[in-house]
Amino acid sequence: MANPVPATFSTRANALLRKNLTFQKRNKKTNIRLTLFPLIICIILVLLQNLVDNLLDKPKFKCGCVCTTNQTTCSDSEKVCGVKYSDQTQVLACAIPNPPEWPPLLQLPGSEPWYPPVYTMLFTADDHYFGQIVSDNIFPSNVTMDYTDIMASLASNVLGSESTPDTNNFLEPAFTSDLPIYYLQTRCPLDNIAFPEIYQEGTPQQDMESFTYEIAGFTVDQEIRCADGINLWRDSSSVINNELYEGHEDNPIVSAFDFLNSNENGFNVTVWYKSTNKGVTNFGPTALLRIPRSINLISNAYLQFLRGLGTKMLFEFVKEMPKSETPLRIEIASLLGVLFFTWVVLQLFPVVLTSLIYEKQQKLRIMMKMHGLGDGPYWMITYGYFLALSVIYMLCFVIFGSVLGLKFFTLNDYSIQFVFYFIYINLQISVAILLASFFSNVKTATVTAYIGVFGTGLLAGFLLQFFIQDSSFPRGWIICMELYPGFALYRGLYEFGQSATSGSNMGTVGMRWQDLSDSANGMKEVLIIMFAEWIIVLFVAYYIDQVSSTGSGKSTIFFLKGFLKKPLSSCKKLSIQRQESNVLAQMEKPDIVQEKEKVEQLLLEPTIDHAIVCDGLKKFYRGRDGNPGKLAVRELFLAVPRGECFGMLGPNGAGKTSFISMMIGLTKPTSGAAYVQGLDIRTHMDGIYTSMGVCPQHNLLWESLTGREHLLFYGRLKNLKGSVLTQAVEESLKNLNLFHGGVADKQAGKYSGGMKRRLSVAISLIGDPKVVYMDEPSTGLDPASRKCLWNVIRLAKQDRAIILTTHSMEEAEALCDRLGIFVNGSLQCVGNPKELKARYGGIYVFTMTTSSDHEKDVENIVQQLTPNANKIYHLSGTQKFELPKEDVKIANVFQAVEVAKRNFTVFAWGLADTTLEDVFIKVAREAHAFDTLS
Ligand SMILES: *[C@@H]1O[C@H](CO)[C@@H](O)[C@H](O)[C@H]1NC(C)=O
Repeated sequence: MANPVPATFSTRANALLRKNLTFQKRNKKTNIRLTLFPLIICIILVLLQNLVDNLLDKPKFKCGCVCTTNQTTCSDSEKVCGVKYSDQTQVLACAIPNPPEWPPLLQLPGSEPWYPPVYTMLFTADDHYFGQIVSDNIFPSNVTMDYTDIMASLASNVLGSESTPDTNNFLEPAFTSDLPIYYLQTRCPLDNIAFPEIYQEGTPQQDMESFTYEIAGFTVDQEIRCADGINLWRDSSSVINNELYEGHEDNPIVSAFDFLNSNENGFNVTVWYKSTNKGVTNFGPTALLRIPRSINLISNAYLQFLRGLGTKMLFEFVKEMPKSETPLRIEIASLLGVLFFTWVVLQLFPVVLTSLIYEKQQKLRIMMKMHGLGDGPYWMITYGYFLALSVIYMLCFVIFGSVLGLKFFTLNDYSIQFVFYFIYINLQISVAILLASFFSNVKTATVTAYIGVFGTGLLAGFLLQFFIQDSSFPRGWIICMELYPGFALYRGLYEFGQSATSGSNMGTVGMRWQDLSDSANGMKEVLIIMFAEWIIVLFVAYYIDQVSSTGSGKSTIFFLKGFLKKPLSSCKKLSIQRQESNVLAQMEKPDIVQEKEKVEQLLLEPTIDHAIVCDGLKKFYRGRDGNPGKLAVRELFLAVPRGECFGMLGPNGAGKTSFISMMIGLTKPTSGAAYVQGLDIRTHMDGIYTSMGVCPQHNLLWESLTGREHLLFYGRLKNLKGSVLTQAVEESLKNLNLFHGGVADKQAGKYSGGMKRRLSVAISLIGDPKVVYMDEPSTGLDPASRKCLWNVIRLAKQDRAIILTTHSMEEAEALCDRLGIFVNGSLQCVGNPKELKARYGGIYVFTMTTSSDHEKDVENIVQQLTPNANKIYHLSGTQKFELPKEDVKIANVFQAVEVAKRNFTVFAWGLADTTLEDVFIKVAREAHAFDTLS
């Protein structure tokens, strides 16, 4: 009979896909939680946005207008809007088409206890004489006020203020704050120094100019006071440096100049200024500095040195750029959202990871493989499946966000968003697949993954973002950090947020493709990094999976083969030595020798009748940590024809499971070979899987799939289709008593132990496999189920080879055509149950129970029957003897008992032939004795 047609790639892929979909359908809670998470996050952000919008909708934050008539209501013509408010927040919001002009000011250092205050300028030059002349021109000796043109007067005097400048010049704080404005001249009139109490009483003074002044549309009553401005010569710039550093107690220093090599042919000057308010902050733009006036002062002084005092370079006013109305708006989704959205996207990672690890932990992956699901379809479908899941999830996320009107989504180009999210979810799935090889426990993986998700978000939000905003932080390091996928994700979302915020502030759009070429936009690097990582991680993940997964026919570290050869061969030598003694022992057993000859014969002339042929299979486990190695399977020769059920008996630890593991491709034989349907297990495991069924010792089932779904899935893997599939599933459910009471449609997680066991057997038999391995199929079954299971196996063995291990002698006798007793890694005997009993039996067991007074009499009777009798059991009147069959006739035993009954009271007696159990114990004991001898 030909091997069954293996299922095509698409059939297997289809089977897996359907199973996955059913599985996903069952995980309702996860699905709902997954879909709701982005929705909830978006709703929270929308609510927060509304809250903030409401807060900002106060007059305090809006550009308001006031009535010039000092009333609460007035017509538009009486209203003034904009800079008239002394509050910067409102100035920021208003439209200012014609910014006011402010007289230029010097920045004066901290306030001065004396009156008049004294402000110092330090200077030095290569040429002392030149320096002296030029610096003498800096301060005027008196104030010149022209009250008809106040603006010009203010500009031509040297004015200064101690107030702190703002970030813009729409409102000059010097004219709105309470701090005085000073005009500096070489020497203020002396009267007030002589009579300081006059000043304190607030009477008008000579050295104070007072005038009314129209600026920015409103009238100021402005006072300007006199202050002494003095120039001090210093020998070198380093002296100046020290003095600036230490500070000047009495005379605050306004600024300092070094004329360097200047002379009448050229002007070359260094200007020192106080930069307290300068510096990038995280909270807003840099404050302005009042430097221009000091540069203008020094230039003017030089000009006057060249051209005479009449020449003047007038610095007339300072004026901010005009601007349109800019309502204050805080885009919450773009500010806070980045962190939340990072979590939303990362959310998928634990889902994918745990799902992969679940199949690995429950050994379902191997189970599927053993039933013919190759690596190709498995990875294709698994990957495609998670990709589809992620795409749907991300679509929900973007759609929710867009429908709720979050600018984060609506302003940025959707095609960039699509590319970004698509690459990222691919990378995420690849990373999950890679990490899945390093975890084996779902719980550990879940906990680790969630800690990773939240930790990544927080680290990115508080560390990465800080670095991104700090322009002095090296870009290279940021790129290095972005190599970690979570940070790359954060950076991408951050860029979306930034673009959305600026787009929303300026009333334009967010990120467009052409913005990627902007060097400040980190999106391009992120996309490149993520794409490259996706490809690399995918390959590494596939490679590691190939290497670590069992039964794929590839060595664990095939590229290291050369290095490993030597230690392996020394192991072999050791085992060969041990082997020889064992082979000698086997030589004596004709049945084992016969089996070996049969195998050799079959290898020479292969026939299709024998489904399983083992040719000297051997498995050696190398010792670890100094423990000696273990030879789990010694040279094993076995041929199982089709239609036979071969029972494997043996004590625990005899090597049965090692043998089965090799046959089903979980481990590789150390040496020797085995052929299943003519295919070598060392090289063609994938081919063997298509015609193999396995019922493992532990049930490998999906908790949330029903019995029927399990059978449908494995049936499809075995290339059953349409009505044939349905029929096969129905039949198998009926046969294994899983049909009634809706059992078939209950989730396997809710099955009893026996039901799971029967389902496992049904799985191993579905799809007409030619070779079936059953590892203790009836453990945990009640007698009725066991009977029904036996019937199924009896029926099933008609045209296939079954290898079955069991501890139940009853089962072995009922099901197996041949038995092998497996002890210490090798078969001790092979034959059908009757033969074995005859060969190893040869005794009757005679039991008699009397009162304890007559024990001696019983012994005498037995001695008369045969002197070779052997007492094996004795307890308060009950005795058991072994009687060699050749010495006793059954009739004689009956006669002896009759005689005994006449002489004393016999409570009970019995004579039994050897059971399989006796054979088993005997063989095991002999083998053990031999082993300890050798
Ligand atoms: C200005 O002074 C600096 C410092 O002494 C000097 O290096 C530079 O050459 C000077 N420039 C000119 C144009 O003389």
